[in-house]
Amino acid sequence: MKKWYAVIGDPIGHSLSPFMHNSWFAQQEIDATYIPIHVKAEMLEQSIASMKLLGIDGFNVTIPHKEKILPFLDELDDMAEKMGAVNTVVRLPNGQLKGYNTDGLGFVRSLEEAIGQQKRQQPLLIIGAGGAARGIAFALEASGYEDITICNRTVEKATSICEELTQSAHSLSLQQASECLDQFSIIIQTTPAGLKNSNFDLPFSIKKLNSKAIVADIVYNPIMTPLLQAASEQGATVVSGLGMFVHQGALAFSYWTGQNPDIVAVKEQLLENLGGN
Ligand code: ATR
Repeated sequence: MKKWYAVIGDPIGHSLSPFMHNSWFAQQEIDATYIPIHVKAEMLEQSIASMKLLGIDGFNVTIPHKEKILPFLDELDDMAEKMGAVNTVVRLPNGQLKGYNTDGLGFVRSLEEAIGQQKRQQPLLIIGAGGAARGIAFALEASGYEDITICNRTVEKATSICEELTQSAHSLSLQQASECLDQFSIIIQTTPAGLKNSNFDLPFSIKKLNSKAIVADIVYNPIMTPLLQAASEQGATVVSGLGMFVHQGALAFSYWTGQNPDIVAVKEQLLENLGGN
């Protein structure tokens, strides 16, 4: 029987996940389809129950449901439980729904695809302390990154993530971080700043950026965010959010099908889709 998968979120119309997963199903000759479903927050519980009843094989979860979905799942993977957020749900052979989080590891894979694994001991700064920053911080630590600092508008939120990490991580205000920016080899931007139509620029100066630094953004629309554009003009190596998007999807795809999809081809198609900018 044809399998079916979905992504739920609000809004959902602009999600590129259906394009990506349907390309992979076609490429791997798997008889399956992947559809976007618009789910409002107040309908989340009923929507999950309905999809389960109708035999959905798996789904992705996006904004604003990644945290709120936890109580409606039957099982949680350890990392998803620790992160307190789920972006991938798998239907187990017994029909139960199990939640995973592939965002953090997807980010690390994208970063290391671009810069390798040699910089795990170097000082790393995460900008932002929301759900995305949390997932990325845990995944970086699990992958062996040893020197993590988190800065945020609300410093207490950065401190709280630092306290949950095993290592002794540091928290800073945005202002403090921008003043000592030259100390960091890797800088990771995790807020919605720079997102198309967001009208929000991070109050964060990169004047002191080390020209040998690596600057990664999790925003992928546009590919070159104002931060990446400015960092690249200062000589830094930049990593766009598109890699994280593709890698989190590839991990979800492998949980569902046991297959590793072609990342390179789909990334090129998405780049074309996004206009390469
Ligand atoms: P997500 O789950 O996608 O990470 P989130 O939990 O709402 O989203 O987190 C958004 C991040 O962007 C937070 O770090 C937030 O800072 P606060 O914790 O201080 O709210 C940051 N952010 C959002 N708007 C901001 C703004 N105008 N200036 C600075 N930081 C902002």
